[in-house]
Amino acid sequence: MTKQAIFDAPQQVIFGTPMDTGALVQQVQQADSLRHWQVEQGNKLTFRCDLSPADIVYGLGEQVRSINKRGGRYVSYNTDNPHHTDDMPSLYGSHNLLIVDCATPFGAFFDTPGKVIFEVDWQNSGQIVVTCPKDVSVVELFGDSPYDIAKQFLHLIGRSFIPPLWAFGFGQSRWGYKNQRDLDSVAEGYRGNGMPLDWICMDIDYMDRYIDFTVNAKRFPDLAAYAAKMKQKGIRLVPIIDAGVKIEPGNPTYDEGIAKGYFCTNKEGKPFKAAVWPGMTHFPDFFQPQCRSWFGNEYRKLTDLGIEGFWNDMNEPAIFYSEYTGVLNALTPPPSDDSAKESNAYKDYRNFYHNINGQRVLHDDVHNLYGALMTRAASEQLDKQLDRRFLLFSRSSYVGAHRYGGIWTGDNASDWDHLVRNVRMMPSLNMVGFLYSGADTGGFGGNCGRELLLRWLAFSTFTPLMRNHTAVLTRRQECYRYAGTQDFCDILSLRYRLLPYIYSEFVKAALHGDMYIKPLAFEYDDERSKQVDDQLLVGESIMIAPVVEKGASGRFVWLPEEMTEVRYNGKNFSCEQIPKGLRRIDVKLNEVVFYIRPNKCVPVTKAAICTDLSDLADVTLLGTGSQYRQYIDDGFTKDVTESNIVIVYKK
Ligand code: GLC
Repeated sequence: MTKQAIFDAPQQVIFGTPMDTGALVQQVQQADSLRHWQVEQGNKLTFRCDLSPADIVYGLGEQVRSINKRGGRYVSYNTDNPHHTDDMPSLYGSHNLLIVDCATPFGAFFDTPGKVIFEVDWQNSGQIVVTCPKDVSVVELFGDSPYDIAKQFLHLIGRSFIPPLWAFGFGQSRWGYKNQRDLDSVAEGYRGNGMPLDWICMDIDYMDRYIDFTVNAKRFPDLAAYAAKMKQKGIRLVPIIDAGVKIEPGNPTYDEGIAKGYFCTNKEGKPFKAAVWPGMTHFPDFFQPQCRSWFGNEYRKLTDLGIEGFWNDMNEPAIFYSEYTGVLNALTPPPSDDSAKESNAYKDYRNFYHNINGQRVLHDDVHNLYGALMTRAASEQLDKQLDRRFLLFSRSSYVGAHRYGGIWTGDNASDWDHLVRNVRMMPSLNMVGFLYSGADTGGFGGNCGRELLLRWLAFSTFTPLMRNHTAVLTRRQECYRYAGTQDFCDILSLRYRLLPYIYSEFVKAALHGDMYIKPLAFEYDDERSKQVDDQLLVGESIMIAPVVEKGASGRFVWLPEEMTEVRYNGKNFSCEQIPKGLRRIDVKLNEVVFYIRPNKCVPVTKAAICTDLSDLADVTLLGTGSQYRQYIDDGFTKDVTESNIVIVYKK
């Protein structure tokens, strides 16, 4: 064996008896000790490694702060918390991967469903300190570069979820759409203004009193007919499903869950009661395989009506109050012994249990896997119910769930900082397999102004999940509700013109175990590229530099090499060769500027109002390359293979 091969093979060191989280799909060779970490064993395990001043630390997926995680303290403990500030240690997902760019780059994945604390040069310690439960598997990865290590990791965790083509179209959502009339007005608002739209989300109000797998018959008297009518217009309906099942004898989902013992149990061994949107609920025990089949099967009540996409929510699980705490969690202060501003549901997570292979396991010990297993439950059964690919995305996640669905990044706000955070988070999500991801464009909480929405749409044009979503009681956030609708048409049309590229690059990344969105530093090793975290590489050809500042007429862009600058104004692409270096560009509110790397191409097609009317085979190539490897299929076939990649030549 060559030195290189020994150096490159990932290795796994097992501490205690960790449970199989399902994150990895490949075998990893076992080792007795870690190469980069000192281990202290106690009640918890502590792993330490030294950092040099210039080392960069990537990873952690859905987390706050920069692409470079240095200087932060992060807690993997899935949390329903809308305050996505830089000192918020926990968001909705746990993705325990670190990649250290140093003299001999390495990565480490801390595979445990319990809480993990990452202190990355926290308070200038010059170290990474990771605190884990005592049962954990640690996978170390070695490679030539951080990018190489990320690809090795993607290989270990398996192919990312690939939704149908329509899921790459634009989606509109709002918590507060109640009935067909509301959805009709959204469809009409988009179609009437010549704005593209492929899907509309149905938030909790479509249900009968927020009860999963029910449809409010007054609001949607014939959902099957309605979904079919919408589909004819090129618009799919995407209902929400929440984790908690309302306690209501007589409801078939509830009755079956009780009869078969599918719910999580409390200290006394009875189904645990916690309040979420429907009032008191029980939580399905997704750790039981039969429970997963049962819950996933319930989606049939909607797929039988023609539904082909879902979003899974409140699956951290979010708890407003429980039979034990009794008061609104939101009113309970966080524990004083932990500087982390964790969700107050933490108390409840120590009050209920799962049945894992006949063992009673405290929820807190396996907390981070709950949402991921809900996604798996839905995905495995949707795959059986539908003869085509489906859309599925979740709020809570763990590595492994990326094979079953996508994620959105939860309840952000209509704030420029949240746009910045969205930009920075995308490459980290890609490192851990969540290629199909995106934020609530325009922001969930608060009132989104026109300028912010336009700039945010311009960025979301490049994220696989592109959905405008907002909370009840905020101002109307549909694009046609703003003055100067033509500007919105101009931006939205770019998404559809770029679909041949976005779809191809996404599918190729999934097929090849690659990232769809990367930091600049994964391809360029100059010092400036290593620091930039407001520019990203999208697929193999594009670099973007989104405008993320209020009132800005443009921005500075770092070009690590000569590139083709492409300016799109809603009608035309104008291209110009730009030399390497720092450049100030103007970007009008109705424009998007992006860059094509040398000798690369970007296929563009004609604008369309929905993906059903897009012709992905009719493309023109932009850029200085001479050919492009394009993935083309019918947009829904389950058989996504290399053989669907064709070479397109420049005319
Ligand atoms: C949660 C979700 C949000 C949804 C709301 C109502 O806050 O994150 O997207 O609109 O619940 O269902």
